[in-house]
Amino acid sequence: MDKDFNVLVLGGYGNFGSLIVRRLQTIAGLRVWVAGRDLHKAQALAAQTASHAVRLDINQADLAEQLRVLNIDLVISTAGPFQGQDYRVALAAINAGAHYVDLADAREFVCGIGELDAQARQAGVLICAGGSSVPALSAAVVDQLLPRFSRLDSIWHGISSSEKTPGVSTLAGVLNYCGKAVRQWRDGAWSEVVGWQSLSAYDFPKPLGRRWVSNCDIPDLELFPVRYPSVREVRFSAGVGLRATQFGTWLLSGLVRAGLLRSAVPLAPLLRRAAVMLEPLGDGISGMFVRLQGLDQQGQPQTLCWELQALNNDGPNIPCMAAVALARKLATGKVSERGAMPCIGLLTVTEYLAELEGMAISVSERQC
Ligand SMILES: NC(=O)c1ccc[n+]([C@@H]2O[C@H](COP(=O)([O-])OP(=O)(O)OC[C@H]3O[C@@H](n4cnc5c(N)ncnc54)[C@H](OP(=O)(O)O)[C@@H]3O)[C@@H](O)[C@H]2O)c1
Repeated sequence: MDKDFNVLVLGGYGNFGSLIVRRLQTIAGLRVWVAGRDLHKAQALAAQTASHAVRLDINQADLAEQLRVLNIDLVISTAGPFQGQDYRVALAAINAGAHYVDLADAREFVCGIGELDAQARQAGVLICAGGSSVPALSAAVVDQLLPRFSRLDSIWHGISSSEKTPGVSTLAGVLNYCGKAVRQWRDGAWSEVVGWQSLSAYDFPKPLGRRWVSNCDIPDLELFPVRYPSVREVRFSAGVGLRATQFGTWLLSGLVRAGLLRSAVPLAPLLRRAAVMLEPLGDGISGMFVRLQGLDQQGQPQTLCWELQALNNDGPNIPCMAAVALARKLATGKVSERGAMPCIGLLTVTEYLAELEGMAISVSERQC
């Protein structure tokens, strides 16, 4: 690299943003900018990480101009919730000639990003939404296991977090569909389930063991039936290590479903405070699974389970590393794709896991 590659992290001092900033700072040749609406918080993290601080609001009219002035090459946005957000940050990046990746988990937001494709191509930049555990890592895992199947019939994947409470933006996002209808691909057709209901147990290998998970609405539910056309079922479930929190969310979804509560979103700050108080009860372990069913290359029924476990509360690093891995590749010219797309097919599992090296995170695979 003949000059520093400028990466600006919007929401850079937030829960996931700060982990991204810390990791980016270890990569040679990057100049990192911490951005958000609170300059003091941005400056405090910048001082700790030898990065730079700037006050930016995603709603400010001159966002593109600010990015241009700072000579930004890549914008990473963690400024959610992305449910209901428009593409103003991605458009500002395009207008500033910068690449863009976000951590969005909102189905419509991620699946609709292609509407910026022509503008992104014209500007010669990569715009990708969903650079996070889903769909970036989940799709990379399915892509990796796919050659082991002559026919893939079903995908069930999920995440069980540790007791470590995410930011209010993540909570508002996942509560958005709590008790609401979620479209799922079942038996080769679209049907509806209810967000945070259908409690199921998933048995991880030890030390994680049994975790309870429920329906969540994510981009994969829409993207996977198209990317893997033989599948007749795509299901995603998530949960929290603490049963009190998991069963509490399940109850809350029942209240919304029954019409006793209009939406759980306004409760996000309150629920966050309650979840933080319960943190001492947790075990610090989180996990992700991808369970694929179908026929192997000999035409025999096969179920493969790919499982990731994170100890010592290292789990929150996982959603952050797609953005970091892409920053590393873009800075060294190793990504040739241009245009606007969901963040799938841009990273391999190996590239993703390389960013998690040194942490208490392990991956295994088994017939299950
Ligand atoms: N796809 C996945 O697998 C996945 C998994 C987990 C999380 N996520 C996503 O990650 C996102 C971030 O989660 P988090 O836990 O880090 O949330 P968080 O701690 O609430 O961080 C959000 C950050 O965005 C900033 N922000 C909010 N509004 C802004 C605005 N108008 N302009 C500029 N900055 C703004 C906030 O700072 P200020 O309010 O001070 O500006 C904060 O620093 C969530 O929204 C969620 O969608 C995705």
